[in-house]
Amino acid sequence: MADVNLLSPGRIDGFDTKNRIVMAPMTRCRSDAQGVPTDIVAEYYAQRASAGLIISEGIAPCAVGLGYARTPAIESAAQVDAWKKVTAAVHAKGGRIFAQFMHVGRIGHSANRYTKEPLISPSGVRAAGQMWTDSLQMQDFDAPRAIELKEIPSIIEDYVKATKNAFAAGFDGVELHSASGYLPMQFLSTNTNQRTDQYGGSAANRIRFVVETLEAMTKAAGSANKVGIKISPAMPFNDILDDNPVETYTTLVKAIGNMGLAYLHVLQSAPDPNYFAMLRPLFKGPFAAGGGFTKESGDKMLASGGADFIVYGKLFTSNPDLPVRFQKGAALVDPDPNTFYGGAEQGYITYKSL
Ligand SMILES: Cc1cc2nc3c(=O)[nH]c(=O)nc-3n(C[C@H](O)[C@H](O)[C@H](O)COP(=O)(O)O)c2cc1C
Repeated sequence: MADVNLLSPGRIDGFDTKNRIVMAPMTRCRSDAQGVPTDIVAEYYAQRASAGLIISEGIAPCAVGLGYARTPAIESAAQVDAWKKVTAAVHAKGGRIFAQFMHVGRIGHSANRYTKEPLISPSGVRAAGQMWTDSLQMQDFDAPRAIELKEIPSIIEDYVKATKNAFAAGFDGVELHSASGYLPMQFLSTNTNQRTDQYGGSAANRIRFVVETLEAMTKAAGSANKVGIKISPAMPFNDILDDNPVETYTTLVKAIGNMGLAYLHVLQSAPDPNYFAMLRPLFKGPFAAGGGFTKESGDKMLASGGADFIVYGKLFTSNPDLPVRFQKGAALVDPDPNTFYGGAEQGYITYKSL
């Protein structure tokens, strides 16, 4: 594998990728209060079409799954129509884009939501911490209600509907966001999942929601290789904690390793243990590694065979043509965290390509 680098062509989901560079899913809060992406969103993604694959920002599969201010969903006709403009703009520039489904579960506040339904989570355990709301500034997370056993099929059905809507909107595939302390990770983790039924307790039970959701999504997509998944083992973000993440994530990846998924995307948030090395052998299919990579560390990872794709987040916010800059050895523009979450054009579509 020594000759593989970031600029080598790759393959995901039966299509060739022009390089091994994936744009990470990034919430940028440029949607309206009804979860509809604004017009600048298409321009933003089109500017980044030189990535081998773009993963969209987290998109709520349903209104109950939306928790942050000005974030998008993919449920209503207006939302789907807006996403059509995004995928068309990316395809016109020769890019590929997957939709990331982000169901927040217990992470949200009523002031950010266009439904009056409460937040939901595996065991109704409220998250410690606060989030931004436009009308009330910083607020404690709302208390979620516990999910009843009999309603789990309807939550999975929300992902199925979102999958169908994503393909209707022209996305090339879909990603289950099972990282960063949102709903699927709330099922995986012991501090948020205290259930005593078949969805809680042992690792085999805690992974059940994720496995069943992936199975349902692959069925709706028509083939497994149009569905990817993102995980972030042991990442504490959003007050999440698992007693034994090594056991949880090896159990999960063994269970999904032979499903024929488009890829496994692993975000490594701390140096030890090395989840890339631990999980890659358990997954048959493209392996995407993310979290703090530079050009040098990305090339090194690919050359060593440690991953098939490298996922870049923050660098893509301020370097829309990141693959071109890597190729030319050009200087990179530093990301500006002040414009990450919200605002309009400035810091979003104002960065120039070379
Ligand atoms: C502004 C911003 C928004 C993000 N939003 C999401 C998101 O919606 N879904 C997700 O899975 N990860 C999200 N992330 C995490 C990134 O996908 C990525 O895993 C992380 O930034 C580490 O990669 P990096 O060091 O290359 O930035 C976000 C990161 C940033 C900087």
